[in-house]
Amino acid sequence: MCKKSHHMRIGIIGTGLLGNAVGLHILKSGHELTVYNRTKSKTAELERGGAVVVDSAKQVAEKSEIIFVVVKNADAVRKVAFGESCISCGGRDGMVVADMSTINPIDSKEIASEFQKKGITYLGTPVMGGPNVAITGQLVMMVDGDRGTYERYRSIFETVASKVFYLGESGTAHAIKLAMNLQIAMLALALSEGITLARSASIDPKTFLEILNSTYFKTGMSETKAYKMIDGSFEPTFTLRNLKKDLDTINEAAKAFGIKLPMSTKANEVYQKAVDEGFGDIDYTGILKYLMESARE
Ligand SMILES: NC(=O)c1ccc[n+]([C@@H]2O[C@H](COP(=O)([O-])OP(=O)(O)OC[C@H]3O[C@@H](n4cnc5c(N)ncnc54)[C@H](OP(=O)(O)O)[C@@H]3O)[C@@H](O)[C@H]2O)c1
Repeated sequence: MCKKSHHMRIGIIGTGLLGNAVGLHILKSGHELTVYNRTKSKTAELERGGAVVVDSAKQVAEKSEIIFVVVKNADAVRKVAFGESCISCGGRDGMVVADMSTINPIDSKEIASEFQKKGITYLGTPVMGGPNVAITGQLVMMVDGDRGTYERYRSIFETVASKVFYLGESGTAHAIKLAMNLQIAMLALALSEGITLARSASIDPKTFLEILNSTYFKTGMSETKAYKMIDGSFEPTFTLRNLKKDLDTINEAAKAFGIKLPMSTKANEVYQKAVDEGFGDIDYTGILKYLMESARE
């Protein structure tokens, strides 16, 4: 069932795997939705669901009080925010931009302050969970930036996500999001290497999972997605290429913070090789497929 929040004029820029699902749920919740995506064909499902499709980020800004940006990386956020026919080209004082893209907290801070100069409030609103949970408003959202703005728009955040954590100053939400995606990258690798090891010893990986899931070391991933992995099903909900992009961001952030994250550095090399060898467009759990195919080299 959809949660109640007063009727709003909402925009989405970026209707890839995540933005599309968030948009469908916003429409189901009874809000007015305007969308823009660089590749227009990816707005078709939202248009059928009642969204207004426009030709630029500027036009989304003209029609919306709050805009969710759900694009690949910080470069893409800057492009739709400040480039040609951009959000700030069509924005007004008091407009709100909620950035769901996974980006470096340092970029997030800079983008927030650039928007502030133009009278637009930017909140970092990265999420955990993919399209399969976004479609029913079950994401987990981390929010940073101006608290008053967060409170004013809380109902829409609580429509999009079943759990919302307000964290404080700009950059904090994206920093935690990177720490979260570090978990995803490592868990997918740990499961994949475990499955590969079990298989190499002629053990049915289901037995490995059954035992793992009887222990303290089980995870949501080992209890659900792992069964798709061992069946060789890697239909993307979050692409391996995008997780690799997040590992780049994690490593860049670590460098900027003056710390070493040795496992993230190593994981980045493994995911990079998988992308180079053509596994980028399948689900991130396809790291298993890459490892299986390269294990005996
Ligand atoms: N999928 C998930 O489970 C998930 C969960 C949490 C967070 N996220 C984050 O959410 C963001 C979107 O992820 P996704 O899974 O929806 O990825 P996706 O399916 O690959 O979609 C990427 C989106 O970014 C747009 N884009 C890329 N480069 C652009 C540019 N230079 N200018 C304008 N638009 C650009 C794409 O437009 P085109 O269609 O024109 O290429 C598309 O709308 C990423 O930051 C991702 O890390 C994803």
